[in-house]
Amino acid sequence: MKTLVSASILSADLMNLSGECQKLKKSGVDMLHFDVMDGHFVNNISFGVPVLESLSRSTDIFMDVHLMISDPLRYTDVFAQAGSDLITFHAESDSNTAETINAIKKHGIMAGISVKPSTPAESVFEYISMVDIVLVMTVEPGFGGQGFIAGMIPKIRTLRQYIDSHNLKTRIQVDGGINEKTAPLVREAGADILVSGSYLFRSPSMKDAVDSLK
Ligand code: DX5
Ligand code: ZN
Repeated sequence: MKTLVSASILSADLMNLSGECQKLKKSGVDMLHFDVMDGHFVNNISFGVPVLESLSRSTDIFMDVHLMISDPLRYTDVFAQAGSDLITFHAESDSNTAETINAIKKHGIMAGISVKPSTPAESVFEYISMVDIVLVMTVEPGFGGQGFIAGMIPKIRTLRQYIDSHNLKTRIQVDGGINEKTAPLVREAGADILVSGSYLFRSPSMKDAVDSLK
């Protein structure tokens, strides 16, 4: 399967989101990764519904929304209505997992489930057939620009094996510390969608950086 790249706008020039979106499209980025942080599930606070609404009004790029919030079930409707094409929430959140997946899917968009570094792959096995994406965090969620945790490679492999042996179509996304050096490691382990923030936005040529990830 072709590798897809999702650009995390946490590292973008937030004063110039419209220019950044045009750059993403020209550079061959497949998705815009929108990190929502509530200051509770993670320490940081990022951006939310009004920013997503503005973005989805002004660009047709696929909106990949990553909810790092304590109660995703409470917010699935508003994020879906704001233009999400995919909503991923955390298995460690307080919401009921199956209910949250169904609440996302009833909007006719894709659903994803994410695991923090300390959460084992096995804990989400029972949900993999229900979701489109399983997101493996390769840093502690909360901030961009952190170093890749190499110990997550076996987790990606375990999920790949589970998905392939059950003939499922669920895609594996990885998020955190992805650059030209770590991308080959996660691709080889079985990742399909690579999220990248600081590497893409700090590269002199975003197009070359996207090519190097794919
Ligand atoms: C971390 C976020 C990531 C982050 C990735 O909590 O979920 O999406 O922006 O940034 P980099 O690629 O800089 O690690
Ligand atoms: Zn993210």
